[in-house]
Amino acid sequence: MNPINHVAIIMDGNGRWGLKNKKSRNAGHKAGLKTVEKIIKASMKKKIKFLTLFAFSTENWKRPKKEVVYLFNLLEDFLKNQLESLHKRNIKLKFIGSRNFSKNLNKLLNLAEKKTLNNENLQINLALNYGSKIELLEAFKGMQKTKAKVNERNFIKHLQTKNIPDPDLLIRTGNTNRLSNFLLWQLAYSEIFFEKKLWPDFNKNDYYKILDKFKSIKRNFGNI
Ligand code: IPE
Ligand code: IPE
Ligand code: MG
Repeated sequence: MNPINHVAIIMDGNGRWGLKNKKSRNAGHKAGLKTVEKIIKASMKKKIKFLTLFAFSTENWKRPKKEVVYLFNLLEDFLKNQLESLHKRNIKLKFIGSRNFSKNLNKLLNLAEKKTLNNENLQINLALNYGSKIELLEAFKGMQKTKAKVNERNFIKHLQTKNIPDPDLLIRTGNTNRLSNFLLWQLAYSEIFFEKKLWPDFNKNDYYKILDKFKSIKRNFGNI
């Protein structure tokens, strides 16, 4: 039985769900937030220590302004409304990605991290304006500035995920089989599950099924 320490998720399919069910992509984002709450609860129940959620990529700025604004308002409301409850549940919040948002949002993200810093239950890493290629380039630059030997152990200290173990498994919902610039280094040995359901339709039973399947996989890491 494989232990599950870290689950990473590409929460894809909100837009399609919204168009199909409510004639608006943004309605899909709103519905997707409910799934986030369900999956947080389910992860706590399964005693998972790290949950990394891809919420907004460095490429998602290409979307229409109306959608981008909606997404960031949704995030801001979520943090404002849920921070206290997340804190009470002993959840630690961390944001990965380039933090160059509005002054207000930057402040809110810093506050959320600071408030929950010493929490010891689930750690949620929210990937916001995150792109793996930029992360790697920044890490190379960071490495160049030090005299440390270039090796794996020293290199990972320059990644945004330093102090976070690599994901044991990656789930991507939305019936699309690609990584979309997510955690390219960290996923080197993760088990990958592509799920047909759109993110707002994904539920805790779908999640538990994947976790069960993961547990019985023979992970070789190059060995036999
Ligand atoms: C994922 O859902 C959420 C974000 C990228 C913010 P999408 O918005 O990509 O949904 P689809 O893939 O267009 O259906
Ligand atoms: C990946 O989904 C990013 C997030 C889920 C935040 P996208 O919908 O942006 O991915 P592509 O563009 O279809 O590859
Ligand atoms: Mg998508």
